Amino acid sequence: MSANCDIAFALNGVKRELTVPAGMSALEMLRERLGLTGTKYGCGEGECGACTILVDGATVNACLMFAADCDGRELVTIEGVVTRQAGERLRDAFVASGAVQCGFCTPGLMVQASHLIERDHARDEAAIRRGIEGNLCRCTGYRKIIEAIAAAADAATQGTEHGRR
Ligand code: FES
Ligand code: FES
Repeated sequence: MSANCDIAFALNGVKRELTVPAGMSALEMLRERLGLTGTKYGCGEGECGACTILVDGATVNACLMFAADCDGRELVTIEGVVTRQAGERLRDAFVASGAVQCGFCTPGLMVQASHLIERDHARDEAAIRRGIEGNLCRCTGYRKIIEAIAAAADAATQGTEHGRR
């Protein structure tokens, strides 16, 4: 097998082409090759959710994905999420609720939460707790995070009812 792989993919709506080592993770590629440091390296083992990104619309732990497997896929990182209205609502809600302390978990949580809200899977506290169970936070005790996600989900529902997107 070649030591390097040529890959082409969409990243936050922009086409990218790279040559990456076969063993490089998608997380290393994003942070070290592409300078997108919003996606965090927590455990490197799929346990903390700090590296959550969207791949073809599904949430993925970027530390567990090979960069080579990004070929042909559509990736969205926290830098892309915050340019969407759902991301803006989440950012505002996290700030308003005081859901950010050290902030290390926040990007991964916001990517996960945007995915839940877009699929209408953040209807109540139980659904939100289930939805973020793979995202660990050592600071907040989760209460304010859940409040923030619920507020952003409510705002999204009201926006839809008013015909906005
Ligand atoms: Fe990927 Fe922790 S860094 S799950
Ligand atoms: Fe510090 Fe969540 S705010 S880990």
